[in-house]
Amino acid sequence: MSASGSSLSETCSLDSAYRRTIRCHGREFQEYSVENLIYPVPVDEDEADRLNRQHALFRRMFDNRLVFPPLEEPKRILDCGYGSGAWAIEAAETYPDAEIIGIDISPHLKPDETPGNLWCQFDDLNDPFNFRPGEFDLVHSRLVAPGINKNRWSGYLRDCFKVLKSDGWLQMVEIYFNVQSDNGTLTEDHGLRRWSKTYLEVFEDTKDLRAPTRLQALMERAGFVDVQSRMMPLPLNGWPRSSRDREIGNLNANIAKELINCLALWPFTERHGMSLEQYYVLIARARNEIDDLTLRPYFPL
Ligand SMILES: C[S@@+](CC[C@H](N)C(=O)[O-])C[C@H]1O[C@@H](n2cnc3c(N)ncnc32)[C@H](O)[C@@H]1O
Repeated sequence: MSASGSSLSETCSLDSAYRRTIRCHGREFQEYSVENLIYPVPVDEDEADRLNRQHALFRRMFDNRLVFPPLEEPKRILDCGYGSGAWAIEAAETYPDAEIIGIDISPHLKPDETPGNLWCQFDDLNDPFNFRPGEFDLVHSRLVAPGINKNRWSGYLRDCFKVLKSDGWLQMVEIYFNVQSDNGTLTEDHGLRRWSKTYLEVFEDTKDLRAPTRLQALMERAGFVDVQSRMMPLPLNGWPRSSRDREIGNLNANIAKELINCLALWPFTERHGMSLEQYYVLIARARNEIDDLTLRPYFPL
C-alpha cells in the first residue's frame, strides 16, 4: 500500500484502487474500505458537509479550542483520519510555519484546495506507521474508532507515541455510540437504543467500539504521561438547561440524525441482514426520538 512516508517526497501518487467507489442504497462508498471492512461509511458530498458541520459543533463544544495541550511553535503535526480536512485545514492556518500531515484511507472527502503547508496522504491506520520516530509535536486523532481494528488499538497508541517528540502531545476525541438518556427514560425498546445496540454488536468480531471509554488507560499503557481525559455528554437535541449546552444540542440534532444513518446504512443492511424497509423504519423512529426533548438523549463523548 502506498502513502504515509517518512518524508514528504515519499508521498505516492493516488492509487486508483483507493479512488474507486461503489453505490449502496443511494450513497457513495469507497470500494476498498467496504471490501476490507475498514470504514464502510459514505464518502460523498453529504458526508463531507456533515463532517464540516460536526467540526463547527466541536469548536463550539470545546470553547473554540482546536488544540487542547500547550503547544508552542509546532513544526510537524499529524492528523489521523482527516476526513473532510476541516481540523487539518484550521491547524494549517493556525500554525502557518508548521507542516501538517493528514492521513486517511479515503481521499474523497477533502476539498481540492488546501493550504500549502498541509499534505494529505492515504494510508490505513491499522497498518504500522511508516513515519520516523520522534518527528511530530502533536498527533491528532478524532472520530476514527469505528475504523480501527479490534486488535490494533494498543499498536495504534504505541505508534502515536513512537512518532511523537519526547515533549509531544496526542489529542484524541471519540464518541461512544451507546446512546444514553439523562433522565433514564430511554428503554431498550426505543429506536435510539436499538440503533446503539445493533451498531455496537454488528462489528463485535472486528472492531472495538467500546475503546472510546478506555482512551486514558490505552494511552498510559502505550507510555504516555500527564494524560488527562474527560467524558462530556454530547446532547442529541436541545434538552439541556444551560443555554450553552442547549445550543450545542440544537446544533447537533440534524447532524446526529444524519450520523445514525451514515454510520449504520451499510452495516445494518449488508452485514446485519436488516431489510432496507426494516432499516428505514428503525432510522425514522430513532430520528423522531432525536426530536423528543423529554428523552434527554446524549452520546458520551
Ligand atoms: C468521522 S470521520 C472524522 C474526520 C475528522 N477526523 C474529523 O473529526 O472531522 C472518520 C475519518 O477517518 C477515516 N478513517 C477511518 N478509519 C480509518 C483507517 N483505518 N485508516 C485511515 N483512515 C481511516 C475515514 O475515512 C474518515 O475520513
